Amino acid sequence: MFKKTVFVFIGVLALFFVACGSDEKKDANQSALSSAEDLGLRKTSLQSEDSVILPNAVYESAMPGESELIQRSFENAPPLISHSVDGMLPLSADSNICLTCHDKALAADLNATAMPPTHYFDFVNNKSTGDVVSNARFSCTQCHVVQSDAKPIVGNTFKADFQNETLKNKSNLIDTLNEGIK
Ligand code: HEC
Ligand code: HEC
Repeated sequence: MFKKTVFVFIGVLALFFVACGSDEKKDANQSALSSAEDLGLRKTSLQSEDSVILPNAVYESAMPGESELIQRSFENAPPLISHSVDGMLPLSADSNICLTCHDKALAADLNATAMPPTHYFDFVNNKSTGDVVSNARFSCTQCHVVQSDAKPIVGNTFKADFQNETLKNKSNLIDTLNEGIK
C-alpha cells in the first residue's frame, strides 16, 4: 500500500514537471515568433515577400563564351556561373537551356565546361544515369549561382586550401567521394 502511494506521488510529480516544461517551451516559441521581423538579415517579415527590396546590384553581363572563369570557392565546390543568364531562367521540366551547352556530349564543341561524372550518377540507387543528366542535378541554379556586384551583408575571411593547383579550376569529386571513409 505504502509503495503504491509513493509511485502515484512520483507519477503526479513527473506530470507536473512535464507540464511546466512544455509551458516554458511554448513561451519561448511565442517570443521568437513575435520578433520574427528581427530574425532575418533583411529585417522585415519572413512570412511575406511584399516589402522585400532587392539589392541594387549589377549582374554579370558577359555572354557565355565571353566570360572569364572564376576560381572554385573551395575544393569541389560547385563552380560559380561566370556568364550572364539573361533570358535563361527560370528552368523548367520542358526547358533547360544550360544543358544545351554543358551536356557532356556538347560542351567541348562550345568551349564550355562539361558537366562532371557526378551529374550522370544516381546516388540513391547507386547506378549511372548514362548519357542523361541525373534528375537530382536538373535544377542547375539550385547549386550554381550567377554573380553580381552586391556587397556581402556578412563578412567572411574563409580561405580555401586546395590539394593541388588543378583543383582550383576543375572538380574531381567522383574520384574522392569516399575519401576518409573506411
Ligand atoms: C550558349 C551556351 C551556354 C549556355 C546556354 C550556358 N552556358 Fe554556362 N558556360 C558556357 C561557356 C562557353 C562557359 C565558359 C566560360 C565562357 O566562355 O564564358 C560557361 C561557364 C559556366 C560555368 C563555370 C564553369 C567552370 O568551370 O568554372 C558554370 C557553372 C556554368 N556555365 C553554368 C551554367 C548554367 C547553370 C547555365 C544555365 C542557367 C548555363 N551555364 C548556360 C556556355 C553556356
Ligand atoms: C545539387 C547541386 C548541383 C546541381 C543541381 C548541379 N550541380 Fe553542377 N556541380 C555541383 C558540384 C558540387 C560540383 C563540383 C563537384 C563535382 O564534380 O560534382 C559541380 C560541378 C559542375 C561543373 C564543373 C565540372 C568540372 O569538370 O569541373 C559544371 C560545368 C556543372 N557542375 C554544371 C552543372 C549544370 C549545367 C547543372 C544543371 C543541369 C548542374 N551543374 C547542376 C553541384 C550541382
